[in-house]
Amino acid sequence: MQIIETVKDMQGLSRRFRSEGKGVGFVPTMGAFHDGHLSLIERSVDENNVTVVSIFVNPKQFGPEEDYNKYPRETEIDLKKISSLNVDAVFVPGAGEIYKNGETLTVDAGRSGRVLCGLSRPGHFNAVATVVAKLFNIVMPDKAYFGQKDYQQTVVIRDMVMGLNFDIDVVVCPTVRGDDGLALSSRNRYLNRHDRARALILFKALKFGEELILSNDEDDAALVIKEINRLIRTDPEAVTEYVEIVDPVSLERIEKISGPVVIALAVRINDTRLIDNLLVQKE
Ligand code: PAJ
Repeated sequence: MQIIETVKDMQGLSRRFRSEGKGVGFVPTMGAFHDGHLSLIERSVDENNVTVVSIFVNPKQFGPEEDYNKYPRETEIDLKKISSLNVDAVFVPGAGEIYKNGETLTVDAGRSGRVLCGLSRPGHFNAVATVVAKLFNIVMPDKAYFGQKDYQQTVVIRDMVMGLNFDIDVVVCPTVRGDDGLALSSRNRYLNRHDRARALILFKALKFGEELILSNDEDDAALVIKEINRLIRTDPEAVTEYVEIVDPVSLERIEKISGPVVIALAVRINDTRLIDNLLVQKE
């Protein structure tokens, strides 16, 4: 497993892989690996001749009040965790490698970056699209792997790949959850034991919404949202930022549910902002 620190070396290695006719799989991450990250990496190793993983905590996608400074950084531990997974290269750039001084060029993620989490995190998805576009040009993969856990991010990346004609397949992998249903997230470690138990309300609320849609055959999205909000309110320490039911491709709000939808929500548990979603397949 090669550790690469500069853009030039990474591009050189990628060019070599490609000239050898190797298909390159790519998993962009911000590190602090858990089984969700590892599932993406394993899938890429399965499906490609070579796999490149990047670890870069992208400062530009954190808002001024967000957790950039306390975001976990543990590259040594991360490298150990993936040492037996047959990863070919890990790209670990310093911030100065990715953003040259005074660089202001950004990718506009468009409409899909402005809804849902985009409302409370203005500029976040532009910053995600920008860093992923850069990483795509540095790693030059054939396939890139993202988790459904960050559903809106997968839509933004798909839109960007289409809109800017990147010749890259975007592969979306299922959300990995704990046995109790809590979606794994690097931010779960901000939760103490008490808060972690409360955090289960996110998955519980999603499953409740799914049941209303599937078993009770409820097709009025506003009503399902109201019931989900009511359930979350039973925990006074859980503060809902949004609950939405949207089209899986466009992220537009749905009124009458007659096909597949995504229930997406963001909830704060004692100041830790958690997100989760469920794809509900109504026939
Ligand atoms: P990060 O939060 O480190 O996540 C890296 C990848 O792991 C993302 O595609 C994310 O959706 C996926 N992931 C996280 N938790 C998961 C889970 N429980 N199950 C399945 N996949 C999961 O997302 C980012 O980094 C950044 O925004 C990035 C794309 C690297 C750009 O900076």
